Amino acid sequence: MNFLNQFRERNQLIKEWIYEAAETIKKSFDAELEIQQKTNRNDLVTNMDKAIEKHFIEKIHHFFPGERILGEEGFGDAVHSLDGVVWIIDPIDGTLNFIKQQDDFAIMVAVYENGKGQLGFIYDVMQDKFYAAQVGEGAYCNGNRLSPIKDTPLKEGLVAISSALMSEKTGLARAVGRTSSGVRLIGSAGIETVHVASGRLVAYLAASLAPWDIAAGKVIAEEVGLVYTKLNGNKIDLLQKNPSLVATPTAHKEIIDLLNSNGKSYM
Ligand code: IPD
Ligand code: CA
Ligand code: CA
Repeated sequence: MNFLNQFRERNQLIKEWIYEAAETIKKSFDAELEIQQKTNRNDLVTNMDKAIEKHFIEKIHHFFPGERILGEEGFGDAVHSLDGVVWIIDPIDGTLNFIKQQDDFAIMVAVYENGKGQLGFIYDVMQDKFYAAQVGEGAYCNGNRLSPIKDTPLKEGLVAISSALMSEKTGLARAVGRTSSGVRLIGSAGIETVHVASGRLVAYLAASLAPWDIAAGKVIAEEVGLVYTKLNGNKIDLLQKNPSLVATPTAHKEIIDLLNSNGKSYM
């Protein structure tokens, strides 16, 4: 496959599919949602999460047959390696927000080739902000190129911390919050990541992100000069869950040092 020659075609198609998905989601606001629990009472899935994932899978099967798909709701393939082209999809990131607020949720799509992020898309539906990045070509919001990030230190910036990490008994994440200018919580890994990429935050930390929470945001983040790793500084593994940190290079180092100095090791 000549992936490079297909960038423009892929970009255009994915953008259309995401906007179609967003329309479907917005139209669903007046209808009653079917909500099911997954692993616990705060881990929910709706008929819309499932419908949107199926929408992407149908399109990918039609336009790019044979390419594997890793989707949160399980309608894609059982992906055990990142060889070849792999699509990574989170149909609704921030499902709890979607259910309880009808706001602050995102559609996320990424394309990886042999483990390397090639394309990343995050659409903040209610803000109508479409973030897109192509490896080596920069990141964009609604067609405007995002500036390379300023390397702001932790004490001069706001941070987002996932609620799971905030409530950890060790209190380490709270120490990161105290060192920063302040903590802001949204509840969508994708939206929090694009807020770091657009310079509103200096870091986003989370206790346990799945591949689909990370994949698109990592492409966007790295295109603007952010560092995206596990909380111990090691490389992200997109075949499993990762305690995650995306930050400016300086804040990244400061946060890792702060966590390490307290002797807690995050795998
Ligand atoms: C969740 C959100 C949340 C993060 C969780 C994710 P979902 O994704 O991104 O902010 O803290 O770890 O699972 O389940 O709403 O797609
Ligand atoms: Ca998610
Ligand atoms: Ca989701």
